[in-house]
Amino acid sequence: MTKKKIFVAIDTNKISKAKKIIRDTQTKKIIVGYKFGLQFFYSNNGRKFISSLKNQTIFLDLKINDIPNTVKSAMKSLKNLKIAYLTVHLSSGFNALKLLKRESKNIKIAGVTTLTSLNDKDLREIGYNKKVNELVRHQAKLAKKAKLDAIICSGHEIKSVKRVFNKEIITPGIKITNTKNDQKRIMKPKDAFAAGSDWLVIGRSITNGNIKKNIKNLLEILED
Ligand code: C5P
Repeated sequence: MTKKKIFVAIDTNKISKAKKIIRDTQTKKIIVGYKFGLQFFYSNNGRKFISSLKNQTIFLDLKINDIPNTVKSAMKSLKNLKIAYLTVHLSSGFNALKLLKRESKNIKIAGVTTLTSLNDKDLREIGYNKKVNELVRHQAKLAKKAKLDAIICSGHEIKSVKRVFNKEIITPGIKITNTKNDQKRIMKPKDAFAAGSDWLVIGRSITNGNIKKNIKNLLEILED
């Protein structure tokens, strides 16, 4: 059987905590990659630490959102990092996505659809007329047109996204227990894999409390 793939979100500004998360999440039973987002990347030694990592699958979740030339230049500035995936908001628009993809070479570009912390009511407040599901599917078509490598969407949209986008699907908003934190469109790990996700992103459900115990618990859930 192919191994399940999980990105552990390293959302901290402490290098010591990042090291501990990496140490305590080592397992041969699943494939573990590490996702670094804004908090870690913007912290004092964040970028340096990421550049020092060896033999890890690194997902840099910068959620880039800007005009085409700035997006392209940002990609150039990241060239010295050995990252596997980089995120861009699909709302940056086709030209920015296309330029970024062209500039990225062998780094996979993952398009962020609609944040898992938003629901239909939040979308109306921002000024979107579409419902989450409809908007995410629309965004997935744009990702396909721009030839992106992956899509970030919640577990609830996986099936609908798969109808229009046939590359990788990465799913955040995964909760092992019923704690939602600030997320609104959440799903349990097994359900997200069953829906067809390639990679799950899990942060606080693993990194809060006893990390080794949380991983053990996750492995048990996945084996069930
Ligand atoms: O702690 P939790 O598992 O909720 O963390 C989810 C991680 O995934 C966070 O780092 C967050 O920035 C990221 N993310 C998300 N929703 C998206 C894209 C990324 O929650 N649409």
